[in-house]
Amino acid sequence: MRKSVKQLLTEIYDGQADVHLDLYQLSNQHRRKHGRGCDMFPSDPLQAPLWTVLASLTHARRMLEVGCGHGYTAALMASAGGPDCQVDTIEGDLGHADLAEQAFEQRGLSRRIHVIRGRGQNILPKLKGHYDVVFLDGDWVEYPRYIPYLRRLTRPGSVVVTANLNPFFGCWGGKLPGKQAIQSYLTRIVKDPHFRTYIVPGEWHSISVRV
Ligand SMILES: C[S@@+](CC[C@H](N)C(=O)[O-])C[C@H]1O[C@@H](n2cnc3c(N)ncnc32)[C@H](O)[C@@H]1O
Repeated sequence: MRKSVKQLLTEIYDGQADVHLDLYQLSNQHRRKHGRGCDMFPSDPLQAPLWTVLASLTHARRMLEVGCGHGYTAALMASAGGPDCQVDTIEGDLGHADLAEQAFEQRGLSRRIHVIRGRGQNILPKLKGHYDVVFLDGDWVEYPRYIPYLRRLTRPGSVVVTANLNPFFGCWGGKLPGKQAIQSYLTRIVKDPHFRTYIVPGEWHSISVRV
């Protein structure tokens, strides 16, 4: 996104894109410190208002994230959902999970956010009940395997936001593996009779509503 557009959006949102911004900065600092092997890429702060929109739209009481990182988006989701909303966030890297838990404790969000250690593909089959909002922000190679669990773990009206679709569209250098997994995921979820899906061009997220 052009710098001037970012500036305009930041001004229009008037502080709404600044919520938990320190956690966004900590995530970037951690990744830079740990080098190429670390994939702690926090979501864009200009996406922060999305979570308040979705929390309001779904009257969210339970939200789920795959790929917690330092906890930036989970904190946004918990703040958007308010004190009666519970966020479960799955993290495969034990160090990242520890950092996120500390961050939630420091922000008084521990009661609202539960960090589940493990990979999405191993944890999703064990989860129970329905989530109002789901955010997929981990390893996209696993995404096709998530589809049966997305059906089981949502109710009509739930919203699934899927990030990290960029490699399929030739972004991020165009050399990352897993394009086929993204293609398979998108093809299947677009055709799935249980979901209606919109792919956001440019941002390369998809938004699926459970019907
Ligand atoms: C893009 S970052 C997530 C950033 C976070 N959602 C945010 O906006 O602050 C990806 C994180 O997901 C974790 N991860 C990657 N693949 C995963 C998987 N299959 N299951 C669980 N965690 C995963 C990585 O260790 C990393 O911490």
